[in-house]
Amino acid sequence: MTTLYEVHGSVALITLNNPPVNGLGHATRLSMTENLQKANDDDAIKSIVITGAGKAFSGGADIKEFGSPKAMQEPNLHSVIQMIENSSKPVVAAIHSVCMGGGLELALGCHYRIAAPGCSVALPEVKLGLLPGAGGTQRLPRALGVEPALNMIVSGEPVKSELLAQIPGQKLFDKMASSAESLPDEAFAFAQSIADIRPLPLVRNLPCKHRNGDAYFQFARNMVKGMSKNFPAPLKCVDAVEAATKQKFADGLLFERELFINLMWTPESRALRHIFIAERAASKIPDVPQDMPQRDIKSIAVIGAGTMGGGIAMNFLNAGIPVKMLEMKQEALDRGIATIRKNYESQVKKGKLKQDKYEQRMGLLSTTLSYDDLKDSDMVIEAVFEEMGVKEKVFTELDRVMKPSAILASNTSTLDLNQIASFTKRPEDVVGLHFFSPANIMKLLEVVRGEKTAKDVMATVMAVAKKIRKTAVVSGVCDGFIGNRMIEQYGRQGGFLLDEGCTPAQVDKAIEKFGFAMGPFRMGDLAGNDIGWAIRKRRYQEKPGMKYSKTADLLCEKGRFGQKTGAGWYDYVAGKRDAIPNHEVVAMIEEHRKSLGISPRKISDEEIVQRLVYSLVNEAAHILEEGIATKASDIDMVYLMGYGFPIYRGGPMLYADQVGLFNVVQAMNRFAKNPLDDASFWKPAPLLARLVAEGKTFN
Ligand code: NAI
Repeated sequence: MTTLYEVHGSVALITLNNPPVNGLGHATRLSMTENLQKANDDDAIKSIVITGAGKAFSGGADIKEFGSPKAMQEPNLHSVIQMIENSSKPVVAAIHSVCMGGGLELALGCHYRIAAPGCSVALPEVKLGLLPGAGGTQRLPRALGVEPALNMIVSGEPVKSELLAQIPGQKLFDKMASSAESLPDEAFAFAQSIADIRPLPLVRNLPCKHRNGDAYFQFARNMVKGMSKNFPAPLKCVDAVEAATKQKFADGLLFERELFINLMWTPESRALRHIFIAERAASKIPDVPQDMPQRDIKSIAVIGAGTMGGGIAMNFLNAGIPVKMLEMKQEALDRGIATIRKNYESQVKKGKLKQDKYEQRMGLLSTTLSYDDLKDSDMVIEAVFEEMGVKEKVFTELDRVMKPSAILASNTSTLDLNQIASFTKRPEDVVGLHFFSPANIMKLLEVVRGEKTAKDVMATVMAVAKKIRKTAVVSGVCDGFIGNRMIEQYGRQGGFLLDEGCTPAQVDKAIEKFGFAMGPFRMGDLAGNDIGWAIRKRRYQEKPGMKYSKTADLLCEKGRFGQKTGAGWYDYVAGKRDAIPNHEVVAMIEEHRKSLGISPRKISDEEIVQRLVYSLVNEAAHILEEGIATKASDIDMVYLMGYGFPIYRGGPMLYADQVGLFNVVQAMNRFAKNPLDDASFWKPAPLLARLVAEGKTFN
């Protein structure tokens, strides 16, 4: 049963019972109305208490119902709230732990509310590109006051119940319980004490005014506009709350409804809802059961104290997990530790980290030059030079010393994980953990599943990823895994665009206007153009027929590796990250173009964006078909969390779905006719062609 019914003397207790957070899906709403009816029909019942079982009062609507007819299927949340308001007996919400979204809207429909301290209260709909759609924008300002209510609705951030209770004049909570434990008893006593009071108080009847309404809402709009670029919902929240102060309750409710439905259909809300679901889906691996036993990971070893090793270590120190670092030479260790220290010290200076926390974290870090010291570590992550020979040496040693249950992970970004696993007698314990640089900051972690990686190893590292607050996405073994394999095609298009007539700044500007954090050339300068150069040199050997623009090689031959050399596609001033266009680079591109006999043409921003984004989409379709990624939404997560794809577009796959795969393929067919592009690449991946033929989408 999704709600439970009990009688305590003259009080009926209805308990939401839909784990994990008592979501208000259709079955729960239906069960709630049945029990409300039951309580109203029973003459022995004088008052009703609604509460939630387990970890929440209610976390709100069931997000899986969003955008589907089920959300509005009767009884919808509006009708449930109306039924509560119309109850002939007083209804008391007994609120604890979590009271969010629809859960708070439901509570606001009750005649009284009693709350436990420590409860997180929020209307977080704006985070999904929406606004509260079941009266929240009309009732919360009445109960809490206009300004605090607007703050909560526009930010979506949770506020603790005890803080809300201190707001002067607030009518959100009629009473604070002394603790979560005593809430049920205090709620029963309260329900008995108000059983005979008539008329029943309703939030909708409270006045809702702002002393200085017009000026305040103008100010609020200016503030919100600046902060909510590209997202329409926050401004609509302001409109809805303003309506609460200017319109009759019933009219305000209708207005809120209209805004809610309009927002539901915006691409931004679709993107945010997609991300919400995709993030949760990414942690689930189709053939690994949710209850798979996991290995105990209480300590970590990191091999290599370079750029990545240091950042990787910090993730675990931040999570309170001890780390032992191994290097070949003491100097390398000292350098690595000094970098970690410097990183933490700058956080302390900025006030982002307390001194004692910093010391605590450094206290968890130890170092060694001997593999034998690693024998007690539960997991080891290798981050040494990217050479198979070096990896072989390291993994042979690890196989010798690590205890039998240990997980052996590699941070390799390009090498064959299966080959690395084959250097050990326990390939089932070997997995790839591909962190992104800077590893202590970037949210994305590609978990690379080898041919023989054991399921419990996969389950364990996914849980570890959560502990260190990474968004983990599983990738199969292939060159570049999901993210870098796609970015190679994107980079190749960037090169062709230069050859055909663009400047680096023009390409960057176009894709940045589309919403990318950084265009391909600024990104190259940040990552180091020598990395791409090394990969291309390998490709020239492996795939001699593959077409590349040579412009980037010419740039590297000049030693313009990017920010680290102060010069790349752009110039850089020491200590600053501003990219300053360089006329010699532009002249170099023009000269090269001339040497190829190409007369430049004017290329539109639209073409630039389409070629860059659809190159990601087509490669992704191959990746999906090959089973390297198991879900389209995983690929979206990789691009959103690791490559600066605009959040409000939901990732390359959702974006392609929204453009329409038929339209995507049409554009690709056009690009294939361009003799300066690579026609063979633009042949739609079989999966993409099939989806178009069947009128389907990736997601
Ligand atoms: P790095 O050159 O900064 O650090 C490598 C460290 O490993 C050096 O401190 C070196 O002394 C140490 N080392 C080398 N051989 C060793 C051995 N046999 N035993 C112990 N220590 C040894 O390199 P970086 O950038 O940290 O890369 C490390 C790994 O991470 C590579 O596999 C790379 O492909 C991968 N990676 C790098 C990314 C990046 O952006 N730099 C991103 C993702 C992965």
